[in-house]
Amino acid sequence: MSTPPFAGKAILITGAGNGIGKATALHLASLGAVVGVNDLRPNFVDATVAAIAEAGGQAVAVTQDVATREGMYAAVDTFAAAAGGLHGMVNNAAWVRYQALADIAPETVDRMLNIGFKGIIWGMQAAAARMEGPGSIVNIASAAGLRSTPSSIVYSGIKAAVMGMTRAAAVDLGARQIRVNAIAPSATPTEGTMRNRDADRDAHRIAQTPLGRLGTVDDMARAITFLLSGESRYITGQVLSVDGGISTSFL
Ligand SMILES: NC(=O)c1ccc[n+]([C@@H]2O[C@H](COP(=O)([O-])OP(=O)(O)OC[C@H]3O[C@@H](n4cnc5c(N)ncnc54)[C@H](O)[C@@H]3O)[C@@H](O)[C@H]2O)c1
Repeated sequence: MSTPPFAGKAILITGAGNGIGKATALHLASLGAVVGVNDLRPNFVDATVAAIAEAGGQAVAVTQDVATREGMYAAVDTFAAAAGGLHGMVNNAAWVRYQALADIAPETVDRMLNIGFKGIIWGMQAAAARMEGPGSIVNIASAAGLRSTPSSIVYSGIKAAVMGMTRAAAVDLGARQIRVNAIAPSATPTEGTMRNRDADRDAHRIAQTPLGRLGTVDDMARAITFLLSGESRYITGQVLSVDGGISTSFL
């Protein structure tokens, strides 16, 4: 039997209790990684860890709010100690509200910035501090960082910043052979996005998407896995659009 591609690799995923993070955790575990399952909701963490164990994989529960620097370091350190190191990090957790310009409230901006902007900085900082050899960090940006939908000023701004921070961190960490990349997903149905879903808008998006469908969490998991793997070993500082082609089309 051949060795699974991620055997011996310890990878932490923030916000892995649901959606894209959960799908990525399951996929990486199926490829042999020891996966750190972070979320602030313990029942979500337990469900992801149980699903991985049921499928024969290895996971470490890391229940922690990573919206503060202390919380992020606690999550990274807990996982690295339990797994015996850190080779990969996926900065995925987010808290999102869409508000029209006139309605944007200071507390909404602060909360979104804490996890979506500062959380990326602390996640990269803590991961780089724990990585002893080559590593790979994947930040989750969004198609909204390139093109915007209504009422997404804060979200689009944060996700554009994630792209910039990804490129800059790749420059700083390259000499240590730590690669930093991002994916930019288009609309991907998850429980977390259900409250913002609109059937007419989804139909319009599908009509504009060359591949003719919305993305799935599994589509995102596969792209993240590629960027964590040795298959992408000479790729750093890049933002990979995982969007069925919608960001490049005029349909
Ligand atoms: N789903 C989409 O359409 C879409 C599109 C583009 C980008 N994205 C991005 O992908 C990422 C994942 O999105 P999703 O739709 O899977 O989200 P989701 O809401 O389904 O899951 C996010 C998880 O993060 C957890 N979380 C939130 N704040 C946290 C914190 N402070 N500490 C720890 N855990 C926390 C939540 O409990 C939740 O389980 C986000 O960065 C999002 O902006 C999503």
